[in-house]
Amino acid sequence: PPSRTVRHCLTMCDFTKEEVVDIIRVAIAMKKSRKIFMETGFDRFSDILKGFSLLTLFEKPSLRTRVSLEVGMHQLGGQAIFYSIADSPLGKKESIEDTGKVLARMCQGITARVASRKAVRSLAEVSDVPVINALDDYAHPMQMFADLQTIVECKGSWDGLTMCYLGDLENNVTYDLMRLAALMGYNMHLAGAGQVEEGVWTEVKALQEKSGSKVEVFKTAQEAAAGVDVVYCDSWMSYGIPKDEEKARIEMFMPYQANAGLMKLAKPDCIFMNCLPAARGMEQTSEVIDGPQSVVFDQAENRLHAQKALLTFLMARKKFDEIVAVP
Ligand code: CP
Ligand code: NVA
Repeated sequence: PPSRTVRHCLTMCDFTKEEVVDIIRVAIAMKKSRKIFMETGFDRFSDILKGFSLLTLFEKPSLRTRVSLEVGMHQLGGQAIFYSIADSPLGKKESIEDTGKVLARMCQGITARVASRKAVRSLAEVSDVPVINALDDYAHPMQMFADLQTIVECKGSWDGLTMCYLGDLENNVTYDLMRLAALMGYNMHLAGAGQVEEGVWTEVKALQEKSGSKVEVFKTAQEAAAGVDVVYCDSWMSYGIPKDEEKARIEMFMPYQANAGLMKLAKPDCIFMNCLPAARGMEQTSEVIDGPQSVVFDQAENRLHAQKALLTFLMARKKFDEIVAVP
């Protein structure tokens, strides 16, 4: 059986608020250290994961997740191995459980971007090393750490903020954004098409009871965006959506597009976020994503820094605690 002490990262429900605070602090320290490296050639975190290998399993496409994991492991002195499910015996000649057991004998961590939540859970059940969800149909936790780091950089803190999410409500990123707000204690307004799964509401309500955060669905984008600090969009065409559904989805989501008129309803210093990839003219107009309120490229850069902190937390906890003690 897998070790009882191993920590996995499947959704934002796998963390306490205090742990998230520490991971963000370390992410900010690691980002600063990279700046120093670019000037001096010295990064104090450059051998934190020396001798560590991370297997990165991909069933769906990726730019940010793949590159930030590979670059991040390199910057910490370790190695990331890209492994495409299309090239593997997985599911054809080998079960996910056997794959997980083999990987745990060779690697110190596994990230998996798979279509279904069942596959990443099966891996975690048998793995003696941390399994990190790199996007399934239920969550995108790695994205959440980068998003929160970006909010801290732009707003100083998440305390007292309200985020508005617009678009696809039946969506991995949406679900983890809801969990993150409820965990950290800020408010979230949602408006869009599709239904949030009951299981997600149960998780969110349990977190809200502790934190006092309010997560609410509004009828219109206008009501949801009124007076908010952050407007957040995700793609209307998540990986795997069939081509023949695109037209109907555009019609369904268009009332929730973030455009200049909508941004005017939010606070004047409201920031615009999108986890990317983004389609101009769809979930937001070019004017919004390329305008002064947009922080989408800071958000994308922070995937690197936040993941380095998360990988250190999960794979080298003692070293992580030492960094937290002396940030
Ligand atoms: N945001 C995100 O996960 O991007 P990729 O699909 O490019 O990894
Ligand atoms: N909801 C999107 C997120 C991409 C990072 C998708 O599943 O494709």
